[in-house]
Amino acid sequence: MKKSIVLSVVVATMFLGCSDNSSKNTEQTSVSKAKEQVAQSVKAVGEVAEQEVEKNIQTSSDAIKEVADSAKEIASNIKESSEEVVADALSSAKQSIDVASITKACVGCHGLNGEKNTMVSSGEGVPNTLSKDELKSALEGYASGGLNKFGKGVMMVSFAKNLTAEQIDAIAEAWGK
Ligand code: HEC
Repeated sequence: MKKSIVLSVVVATMFLGCSDNSSKNTEQTSVSKAKEQVAQSVKAVGEVAEQEVEKNIQTSSDAIKEVADSAKEIASNIKESSEEVVADALSSAKQSIDVASITKACVGCHGLNGEKNTMVSSGEGVPNTLSKDELKSALEGYASGGLNKFGKGVMMVSFAKNLTAEQIDAIAEAWGK
């Protein structure tokens, strides 16, 4: 009898201990499961946030690149067009210097821009009333000695003869309409 009491106490204790232990274990398991879940959700949220940030960085760096590219394009366009403007200005400055040096011999009778003819009293023979083509062929005509439009063609021969084809073109371009 005594023996069986001791045995049942031992068994009971074992049982108690067991159940106690197992409930503790279950508690621990669910706590660590919950912890793990929390950790996982935190990790997942972190990953999503990281992806979002990366996406945003990508988008904004794309946008920055786009802006930079178009700024670059605008800058190069400005550079190109200002180079063109400068080149145009230089070439037309050079042309007027060239024309001025070529027409030095002419201005006494025709003015700086071929706008008069001091030798023809009727008011005719004014170079800048001619078209570029007419001006060119008039100079060629005087150079060959065959042209005499207002009875004073001979006055033009020596001046026209001194001109090269390029100089005639330049005068026609500058004075002709
Ligand atoms: C000494 C004065 C004199 C000088 C310098 C002179 N010309 Fe003339 N030019 C004349 C006269 C005069 C005529 C008219 C000739 C004629 O009767 O056909 C004329 C005619 C012309 C014409 C034709 C005009 C027209 O209505 O058909 C042109 C173009 C011309 N000159 C250009 C020049 C050029 C360019 C130079 C300089 C390289 C020059 N001349 C120098 C006196 C001059």
